[in-house]
Amino acid sequence: MKKEIIVTKDGSHSLFVPDLNENYHSVHGSIEEALHVFIKNGIHSHPKKNINILEVGFGTGLNAILTLENKKQATVNYTALEPFPVSKDIYTKLNFFERIHSEGDTFLKLHNSDWEQEIEINEKFTFYKSQERLQNFTTDKKFDIIYFDAFSPETQPEIWTERVLKKCYELLNKEGFLVTYCAKGVVKRTLKSIGFEVIALDGPPRKRQMTRANKL
Ligand SMILES: C[S@@+](CC[C@H](N)C(=O)[O-])C[C@H]1O[C@@H](n2cnc3c(N)ncnc32)[C@H](O)[C@@H]1O
Repeated sequence: MKKEIIVTKDGSHSLFVPDLNENYHSVHGSIEEALHVFIKNGIHSHPKKNINILEVGFGTGLNAILTLENKKQATVNYTALEPFPVSKDIYTKLNFFERIHSEGDTFLKLHNSDWEQEIEINEKFTFYKSQERLQNFTTDKKFDIIYFDAFSPETQPEIWTERVLKKCYELLNKEGFLVTYCAKGVVKRTLKSIGFEVIALDGPPRKRQMTRANKL
């Protein structure tokens, strides 16, 4: 699948996939969107200090590097799924680490790490990435937060089904939550029918809403 680097409104890069006619992030600002959806309303909204995170769609690595740099006092075990990895030619050109004042080395470490192998990025952040699709992913772990950052329901309906979202429910610890940029009614209704408490939150710049789904 061909991917092209684009520049979003906050100056940070994202990718455009011509075959899907879809971007990896909001064109209004990829870093701003990720900080709002996955950092402020994700890791910063969970009270635990020892947090297991599952990311659905590692992609550019933006959510992982932002989590690493903004985790405050938390110790994080981060699992990322990505069946269609971004090529080295592209991820080495992305401008995220310059813009978030992270070390380029750390960002590249996430991308260059072996698949299906846990590594310690530092004493408070361990990282594991898998090429498995969410639909086929199996693990003994339970997660406190799922960053659900798949392509939109219009583009990728097969990952927003009741069956797959129920799997997310089962992968979560009690008091864990799934967080997503998506605010579609049908997705919220499906999450509710599974047993999640569904919260509509203010969206990132120029998006009205986003969703957090709590497992009570
Ligand atoms: C909207 S992009 C976001 C990627 C990433 N979070 C980022 O910030 O760059 C969606 C990602 O989900 C990945 N993906 C597609 N199908 C998937 C599946 N079945 N399971 C897990 N990830 C999937 C895509 O390859 C893509 O990288």
